[in-house]
Amino acid sequence: MQVIAFISGKGGVGKTTLAVNVAVALAQRKKRVLLIDLDPQNAQRLHLGMNPDEIAGLTREGITPSSIFDSPFGIKFIPFGRITEAEMEDFEAELKAHPNWVSNGIESLSAGYFDFVILDTPPGPTVYLHQALIAANQALVVVLADAASYATLPKITSLIEQYTAGRSDFFGFHLLINQMPAHSKLGYQVRSALFANYASQLVPVAIHKDPRVAQALGFERPVLQYEPNCIASLDIQSVADWLLDSVEQ
Ligand SMILES: Nc1ncnc2c1ncn2[C@@H]1O[C@H](COP(=O)(O)OP(=O)(O)O)[C@@H](O)[C@H]1O
Ligand SMILES: [Mg+2]
Repeated sequence: MQVIAFISGKGGVGKTTLAVNVAVALAQRKKRVLLIDLDPQNAQRLHLGMNPDEIAGLTREGITPSSIFDSPFGIKFIPFGRITEAEMEDFEAELKAHPNWVSNGIESLSAGYFDFVILDTPPGPTVYLHQALIAANQALVVVLADAASYATLPKITSLIEQYTAGRSDFFGFHLLINQMPAHSKLGYQVRSALFANYASQLVPVAIHKDPRVAQALGFERPVLQYEPNCIASLDIQSVADWLLDSVEQ
């Protein structure tokens, strides 16, 4: 089993979108995939057509077989859950007190049932990022090809080092560029700077900016299912192939 954390320094870069769609792409490759939403926004379920009135999730039920939902897209998922502000404070205090809460939860799921567990997180240094990195075997840092994203990298990479220090089962992080404009000098310059400074850590595929991605969310389904042959879907398929190659090596 491989646990992959989708993380970022900056919000709105596409972590949730990519976590869901990479999960679906892996499922299309006959892998058993569980997606876990560790973001209080509780937004992952919106990509998966879940009943909007559903309040269940890991905050109430924990990470257990009974908190797993089936999606119509070949993956299973555990939503964050809908809770009040007061409940959230208690939950975050619990996570602070037990840094292995997520990791233990994943281990408690019947061993070997999933090939991949994909974790979605909120941006920046949060208790959820800490939990996700303790549980993960690798991290994908989602970045936009812009200066603001680039500026958050030293901080996020030092947090990765700090939270995974000394773990032989953590294989490192990669940077995944999202919303790459087709024709942009600045985008190209930022990608070159990323390449110059993080060459071996750059995922060899960037995800193009594609209006079909937001449209798919409007229809509450992954873009891979909504428009399988659009450029973003093809890019995401390549990322899934790259992930499988790198895991199997
Ligand atoms: N490759 C892309 N092309 C166009 N829009 C995208 C792309 N990836 C994400 N988006 C849009 O960007 C917004 C933020 O994405 P989201 O996955 O919620 O980011 P995060 O989880 O990092 O906050 C959403 O409106 C989403 O539809
Ligand atoms: Mg998100």
